[in-house]
Amino acid sequence: MSETASVPGSVLFLADYPLRAHNTFGFDVRAKLACRIEREDQLLAAVRDPRAAGLPRLVLGGGSNVVLTRDFAGLVLLIALRGRRVVGEDADAWLVEAAAGENWHEFVAWTLAHGLPGLENLALIPGTVGAAPIQNIGAYGLEMAERFASLRAVDLASGETVEMDASACRFGYRDSFFKREGRDRFVITSVRFRLPKAWTPRAGYADVARELAARQHGSGNVYGSAAAAADAAATTPGAQAIFDAVVRVRRAKLPDPLTLGNAGSFFKNPVVDAAQFDALLEREPALVSYPQPDGRVKLAAGWLIDRCGWKGRTLGAAAVHDRQALVLVNRGGATGADVLALATAIQRDVAGRFGIDLEPEPIFI
Ligand code: FAD
Ligand code: EPU
Repeated sequence: MSETASVPGSVLFLADYPLRAHNTFGFDVRAKLACRIEREDQLLAAVRDPRAAGLPRLVLGGGSNVVLTRDFAGLVLLIALRGRRVVGEDADAWLVEAAAGENWHEFVAWTLAHGLPGLENLALIPGTVGAAPIQNIGAYGLEMAERFASLRAVDLASGETVEMDASACRFGYRDSFFKREGRDRFVITSVRFRLPKAWTPRAGYADVARELAARQHGSGNVYGSAAAAADAAATTPGAQAIFDAVVRVRRAKLPDPLTLGNAGSFFKNPVVDAAQFDALLEREPALVSYPQPDGRVKLAAGWLIDRCGWKGRTLGAAAVHDRQALVLVNRGGATGADVLALATAIQRDVAGRFGIDLEPEPIFI
């Protein structure tokens, strides 16, 4: 890696930059140029610099939802914008804002420390605030879209700063405008959230309910009895208790990228129509499913992969996590190609057995 001269506007370009520490799979790839963005004005200065002219661009937050398949022959913008604050309130909600480079989990913890519940179900999701709207992060009964107010972004094509509300972002399940039409064009610089004053707990997700029950009954066992879970649901857990429960559940089943490279769920949970669901259920009575408001049914991709016998299996330096079959891991020294070969083998088996095409969840570069 070598540093090249900084340009007016104090943008520092780093040439032949190693990205291993910037992607949670830990793939050992490099970028032709990289630039750390600490102030908004550095974004346009960087992309308009003659040395970056014509180069493809890649925005990176924590790199926890990307699969870097090879060296990147372009400019990587490392988002390091910081700051978080309460910006106002109305009759129903507090309005809080965080800059795109803030760590998501620390931001969630900060809201709770300020007595502002509402994001606790999304505790411990790796990555940055600015990436949260990209796939509308979700976990344990809550999607970010439900707490979203608006965001600011720089349109790299026009140079304009835009403000977008939820309808402009077109959030869906692990989806948004930014994964489709807006891809590679908008850089999110800050996000605002509405945290409800009339907060109520969201503790219905089975793992979370069990964990709360186990703590309430002092067993320390994540998988407490069904009766204990029902008791716990009958009392009202606070936001901090839900936060703690989510953190414990996640630590128990998801690998820590610092010790085992991964990007969380590798595939989306597939959604099928009622007829296909009925046919599958007849063949597979234990099928795990979640009815959707539109009559379709979401299936647990982890269960489908597990059922095909892939849980814990390895293929070269890549493997299927032994506690969560939806998570593919780098056992050490794997490349993007190794993980892709494993993903393709899994897709083939799931399609062969269930007639379902699994769609990858992370972004491929
Ligand atoms: P990156 O990986 O850096 O980027 C992801 C995408 O967003 C890329 O396309 C990038 O170009 C783009 N991007 C990033 N920042 C910006 C910006 N400021 N402006 C414009 N584009 C941007 N996700 C869930 O939804 N739920 C989970 O429960 C969950 N659990 C996970 C568990 C583990 C162990 C891991 C490793 C990942 C998990 N994820 C989960 C996925 C991941 O944490 C989220 O998608 C997260 O929002 C990614 O943030 P990041 O900053 O790392 O994004
Ligand atoms: N299951 C199995 N075997 C497995 C894995 C899962 O049988 O190996 C079953 C579980 O027993 C459970 C069901 O599948 O009945 C669902 O499993 P889990 O609760 O672990 O959730 P998931 O559907 O696998 C989704 C998200 C996660 C999120 C959790 C909790 C997607 C693609 N993934 O996983 O998000 O944390 O729910 O809400 O929607 C991510 O996006 O990266 C991510 C980790």
